Amino acid sequence: MNQQESSRFEVFLEERSYPLEIGHDLKAIILQKSDELIETGTKVVAVVDDGMRKANPEFLREIYNSIPHLSLPSGEKTKSSNHLIQIWDFLASQKLDRSSSLFAIGGGVIGDLAGFAAASFMRGISLYQVPTTLLSMVDSSVGGKTGINLKAGKNLVGSFHQPKGVFMDLKVLSTLSSREFAAGMAEVIKYGMIGNRTLYEKIASQTKPLSYDSPSLLKLIRTCCIEKARLVQADEREMASDGGGRALLNLGHTFAHAIEAVAGYGDYLHGEAVSIGLLCALRLSKSQGFCMEDPESMLVDILSSYGLPTALKHSLSISTLMEKMLSDKKVSHGKLRFVMMKEIGDAFVEEISEVCKIEEVWASVGAS
Ligand code: GLY
Repeated sequence: MNQQESSRFEVFLEERSYPLEIGHDLKAIILQKSDELIETGTKVVAVVDDGMRKANPEFLREIYNSIPHLSLPSGEKTKSSNHLIQIWDFLASQKLDRSSSLFAIGGGVIGDLAGFAAASFMRGISLYQVPTTLLSMVDSSVGGKTGINLKAGKNLVGSFHQPKGVFMDLKVLSTLSSREFAAGMAEVIKYGMIGNRTLYEKIASQTKPLSYDSPSLLKLIRTCCIEKARLVQADEREMASDGGGRALLNLGHTFAHAIEAVAGYGDYLHGEAVSIGLLCALRLSKSQGFCMEDPESMLVDILSSYGLPTALKHSLSISTLMEKMLSDKKVSHGKLRFVMMKEIGDAFVEEISEVCKIEEVWASVGAS
């Protein structure tokens, strides 16, 4: 790994544009940003993933010695209304005002939850994302989606609130478990399947699975962030009328969100549910006559090489999964819309009216 390598680019969203920094030791840059804010009289606080804090004590010690912070437990269960209230109470106790800033330091759960707290506290304070998992680096920290889960479904309450900056310090990935790293790879593979066949084929041809110290990791993260920024810039609030645009980032996610909600939040890591969802999306595409030249075995091999699941751990009820799908945000006028692929690397959105086709896909991953 080239420790000197770093990358900076801008997500262009008019007055909501922000820089994205990727590097191998960004503590000084993050510290500089928070010092700059404090020097101008801005109150700065942090919400931190407790697992990350314990695994990287020096990371937080150096950055946040003087900044009040709230630690919250790792895991999807934390993305709840109870923890949201806990953050609001913390922000109020720190006497923040509308010019204050919140740093969200952790994976997708902390980024989404603390992001939503920042979006809603006093109708919105400034947010800086410091993603510390591969998944949050390549996906959730970029693009401004924030929110919490309800029993009824994933991410059902939330808002768009773009961060003022995103800092990706690859050094913290060294303390990530291989399970968490693999979960992030599911989102990386997703980018290949949506719109970058070269990326997909490159991952497929790798003789050794990527890990936190792979020399190509920084470039890979950058590629994913550029793909994401491109879609977000074109369709910030996922409103594209043709269903393309940002919605394409949901490839496999209608399946994944149903799995997470039905199995119980935390049973599957989000990326693990996405792994099964990607395979479901490929099977659904094939059932509609697409992706005929794309062998399913290639995707199964890629996912399996990272130890990602390609079937449910325990059978789940097809009718309950279908019910959850119908409460997904991607449902429009009561109709289920899915991201599918004409071929790997060429995704599109289409309504599926033949429920039996979706049920067949569920059965193929072990639902009954
Ligand atoms: N994770 C999908 C999106 O940000 O739109």
